[in-house]
Amino acid sequence: MESLELVKKHNAFESFNPMQEKAVAAGLADNSIVVSSPTASGKTVVAEIAALNCILQKRRKVVYTCPLRALASEHYNDFREKYSKELSIKAVLSTGDFDSSGKYLSSNDVIFTTFEKLNSLLNHRAEWLSSIGLLVVDEIHNLGSDRGPTIEMVLTKLRFLNKNLQVLGLSATIPNSKEISKWLGAKLVESDYRPIELREGVFLDGELFFEKDATSIVQHQDELSSIALDTLSRGKQALFFLNTRKRSEATAKKLASLTSERLSQQEKNVLENASEKILSALEIPTEQCRTLASLVKQGVCFHNAGLLEKQRRLVEGLFKKSYLKFICSTPTLSAGINMPAFRVVMPSPYRYSGFGMERIPVSEWKQVAGRAGRPKYDSSGEAILIAKTEFEKDDYFDYFINGEIENVESRLASESQLRFHMLSIIASDFVFDLESAEKFFSGTFYGSQSGNLSELFEKITKIISGLEEMGFVKASEKRIDATPLGKRVAELYLDPVSAHRLIGSLRRNMHNDLAYLFSIASTNEFYPLLSVPKAMQAELWERVMQHPEELPVDVNKEMFYDDGLLSKYWISLLLKEWIDEVREQAIVDSFNVQPGILRAKLKNADWLAYAALELAKILGLESHFIPLTKIRKRLQHGVKEELVPLCELRGIGRVRSRALFKAGVKTIADLKKIDVKDLEKILSPAVAVSVKKQLSARK
Ligand SMILES: Nc1ncnc2c1ncn2[C@@H]1O[C@H](COP(=O)(O)OP(=O)(O)OP(=O)(O)O)[C@@H](O)[C@H]1O
Ligand SMILES: [Mg+2]
Repeated sequence: MESLELVKKHNAFESFNPMQEKAVAAGLADNSIVVSSPTASGKTVVAEIAALNCILQKRRKVVYTCPLRALASEHYNDFREKYSKELSIKAVLSTGDFDSSGKYLSSNDVIFTTFEKLNSLLNHRAEWLSSIGLLVVDEIHNLGSDRGPTIEMVLTKLRFLNKNLQVLGLSATIPNSKEISKWLGAKLVESDYRPIELREGVFLDGELFFEKDATSIVQHQDELSSIALDTLSRGKQALFFLNTRKRSEATAKKLASLTSERLSQQEKNVLENASEKILSALEIPTEQCRTLASLVKQGVCFHNAGLLEKQRRLVEGLFKKSYLKFICSTPTLSAGINMPAFRVVMPSPYRYSGFGMERIPVSEWKQVAGRAGRPKYDSSGEAILIAKTEFEKDDYFDYFINGEIENVESRLASESQLRFHMLSIIASDFVFDLESAEKFFSGTFYGSQSGNLSELFEKITKIISGLEEMGFVKASEKRIDATPLGKRVAELYLDPVSAHRLIGSLRRNMHNDLAYLFSIASTNEFYPLLSVPKAMQAELWERVMQHPEELPVDVNKEMFYDDGLLSKYWISLLLKEWIDEVREQAIVDSFNVQPGILRAKLKNADWLAYAALELAKILGLESHFIPLTKIRKRLQHGVKEELVPLCELRGIGRVRSRALFKAGVKTIADLKKIDVKDLEKILSPAVAVSVKKQLSARK
């Protein structure tokens, strides 16, 4: 097989490893295969072999899909660098915009995407998807997570459309991988090969215990610092996994004095430079930006959803090049990625759930542990839990290190998941009566695992009548069809319950900012909401009660039924402050929300405002067209209406546009008129020149 040689050559590998040999022997060129093997065993390479074969020999397209944007992006960049130019293979990354049929994607040979994006493409009936040759599903053990139903749907739909589809599922080591391969009619390749030894151990009272031996570590202030110092003294790097964002930041601060003392001058220079970039990620840096920038300068950083995307990319790059010695992260960094961490340290393998602190699953520990000791970077690795007592040490060995990994079970029977996916499969004609529904669901992982659909069908019947009441489907004795509204809801990738709520709000004909923002905050897609500080609750209730006319719900009734009412109101106020130009740091402080979370919420709100606008369009609710269009722009830029036109220029955000406005430059026409020298007095010279350039290009 030509692709074998190509993959070997382009990776500069001497040979394939035993797991890879096994996969090749199973018939990678034609067969569907599930590979279940340890972290860092080189599963990506198996995908590369199958992909090149499909593209070069069969002349068919390949889709690679995985749970995280960051992972899709890492694999895309890696693949493109290795193969695109020399082999003239067109690769593309597609993870954004759910309301698109992605026609432009069809001119590519390999498409890297997330489960959700792929499902949304199917909702748009993207034709090219029915002729792909190979689907790679990375981290397929996610079938057992809350993203699982989407994986089931994507796979079932694509296999319906294309009976000869070759599927390659890449899984962590799980006990019931056989069930996954059986479902897919795939061969199972199991291996326990890990190229780099990974030792899992527990740290207690200055000693690092492994299964068969133990080593002492010089004691420093506390456990974390001791392990950190020992890692530095070996010239190595480590990832610390913490269970909250706050702890990730606090831990980084604690370790900063250790790293800063050991940086070379060259390292300091690089970090200094990067630190400035981190600081200037926003027009005005927030407190968090400053903290992060200062830590980076000292050779350490935190990593969580509160970081801006640009900052996240920067710190990941710095760690990969060994400038940063430690990253203190929440589980955002736990799956699939390759990082030069000799050690992974987890001080507390517990996580807060709705019912208090709960142990993380063993499978999650194994994923986290697997980030240590990666082949490109290290010759061995250690994954360490920290215990407080002898009893806890033994328990960690029994439960996490030697314990049983959980089986992967289908989550499709969850009612909300089922409702969402039901509308989607009706809208795209996979299901049009009970018989076709039975056929479809027999093809799912749920169907394969349970072997009995009767319980599921009880739920499905209820769900269909619910969808009918909402006006999204029409069901008769013989047929079930989606209405045009239902089809649009599926295309918009909205939960039917959210769409129903949005439509209810729109029909109330309210056009004030807060009403729109509250409607957005009321959708399931906007979860999780922010918790309302106790001290604020009474005051907020008073405000809600005094102005019930501001909100698109019957406040007097909802206050008894909806226990999330106040949180929705609270986050609507946050959005309102953003579009009224309250300073970002002030918002961060008063709502206790980090910049990265704020940005994610704003992006989501913009998306939901778009969805509301599209629903208004299909319902002919014209009075909402202009206000919703305006509110979208204001959400995107964080400005009052008068500044929107100025913000359309690159380099002009909420701060600079306000400065221009204050200086009397209020419109694009004013901007065109003003001399560049005068403009430089308001904006920085570089921005002034860029603005003038953009304007002359517009003429
Ligand atoms: N045959 C090989 N020879 C040398 N290095 C290899 C070989 N195969 C893979 N590698 C290297 O091993 C590293 C880990 O590979 P990869 O990311 O594919 O692991 P994985 O099995 O997908 O792990 P995870 O389960 O954590 O996602 C990569 O840096 C890769 O280049
Ligand atoms: Mg992988």
